Amino acid sequence: MSRSAHPAGPRHADVYPEGHYTAPAADLNLLDEKVWARSVRRDDDGVVSVGGLAVTRLAEEFGTPAYFLDESDFRARCRAWADAFGPDADVFYAGKAFLSRAVVRWLREEGLNLDVCSGGELTTALDAGMPAERIAYHGNNKSVEEIERAVRVGVGRIVLDSFQEIVRVAHIAQSMGKRQRVQIRVTVGVEAHTHEFIATAHEDQKFGIALADGQAAEAVRRALRLDGLELIGIHSHIGSQIFDMAGFEVSARRVVQLLAEVRDEHGVELPEIDLGGGLGIAYTSEDDPSEPHHIAKALNEIVSRECESAGLATPRISVEPGRAIVGPTAFTLYEVGTIKPLEGLRTYVSVDGGMSDNIRTALYDAEYSVALVSRTSDAAPMLVRVVGKHCESGDIVVRDAFLPADLAPGDLIAVPATGAYCRSMASNYNHSLRPPVVAVNDGEARVIVRRETEEDLLRLDVG
Ligand code: LLP
Repeated sequence: MSRSAHPAGPRHADVYPEGHYTAPAADLNLLDEKVWARSVRRDDDGVVSVGGLAVTRLAEEFGTPAYFLDESDFRARCRAWADAFGPDADVFYAGKAFLSRAVVRWLREEGLNLDVCSGGELTTALDAGMPAERIAYHGNNKSVEEIERAVRVGVGRIVLDSFQEIVRVAHIAQSMGKRQRVQIRVTVGVEAHTHEFIATAHEDQKFGIALADGQAAEAVRRALRLDGLELIGIHSHIGSQIFDMAGFEVSARRVVQLLAEVRDEHGVELPEIDLGGGLGIAYTSEDDPSEPHHIAKALNEIVSRECESAGLATPRISVEPGRAIVGPTAFTLYEVGTIKPLEGLRTYVSVDGGMSDNIRTALYDAEYSVALVSRTSDAAPMLVRVVGKHCESGDIVVRDAFLPADLAPGDLIAVPATGAYCRSMASNYNHSLRPPVVAVNDGEARVIVRRETEEDLLRLDVG
């Protein structure tokens, strides 16, 4: 799914079995800054630290497995996105990537808006003081209760995802004497180059209303007719973990074409377009993501060019990055348990977590990197598969990677770039306890989501 699924580096089929790996790094002790949070480094004693705190100490204090999130990196990435797009655009952080009350506070302080897609995310956002007008509400099957609440609290926009929802939101808003700001989510017919499960702009899937066959134009027609709705624009999200701007280019072009059609038919110029999220991050050294200012420049240019040729004023642009903000800011720390060398194959390294804290490898064939972080080693590289402790052979955290051959039980290893869609997709499989998220900032560590306990499990099990 990521580019590293097709590495350009040398193959080792003659030495090692088939896999996704490239050559082992010359020095396994070096940390590639592309995949690690900004304050992560290896100190002189060989121990890796984040925000100035050694992982050995963090493991003692907070246990393993645990996610450690570099708060200053998170805030810097928020600012980079906000600065890149400037005051004439809006950046909505996609809360599904990872949301907690602390995160909402950081977003608020850094001037970002928030995209939520469930009642639970809305609750978290409001509880942590995100102003409702800075919230966008998404989802392909919002319940009546969710819509009623979103309208009542006054969310800045609801992104409409079906013909039924157009009528439903209009009716609810009208019955409350309100006019709800909405966008219509369209599928532009782009095949995004990513895993099938996270591509969302081709027509044969559950999200949005197709531009093809005039469906989206019909949705606009209906929305404009309804008093309960203020249609502010068109939304398109083409998928996730995308590196190539070509898909966004096609998407922007088709959305602008729709704006031109709307102007021609209704004499209305819709003031906003939202191009969604989906920008890729580096999970391994093979991945080369773009910086926010390049992305902003490219998107702004595409939209201005298309609008100019359609004779439209350039609409206000919004984007919804989730992974690109939080993904690189965290790593998962594990303790090594059993180690099983399989002659002629690879060595299976078991850790104290697994698919319950990172389902992405099993679900999307995602690739990750891994490093020994509690010490350095001069031992030769050994091909490993990092696996969890769950009762399932697909319980793989890192499919193919190299770790030093003297790896031993009790060593700490860390998997970088787990800030997005790991804690938020974590499960209790095998009644495991979901790990905590610990924010680290300038020599201080603070639990922002605590570790689950067995009491938590029993509390839900009402007997
Ligand atoms: N906006 C909308 C409407 C979305 O549906 C999504 C992601 C985003 C923004 C944020 O996308 P991002 O920038 O984070 O890629 N669980 C999958 C990703 C699913 C994404 C769903 N929607 C994964 O682990 O890769």
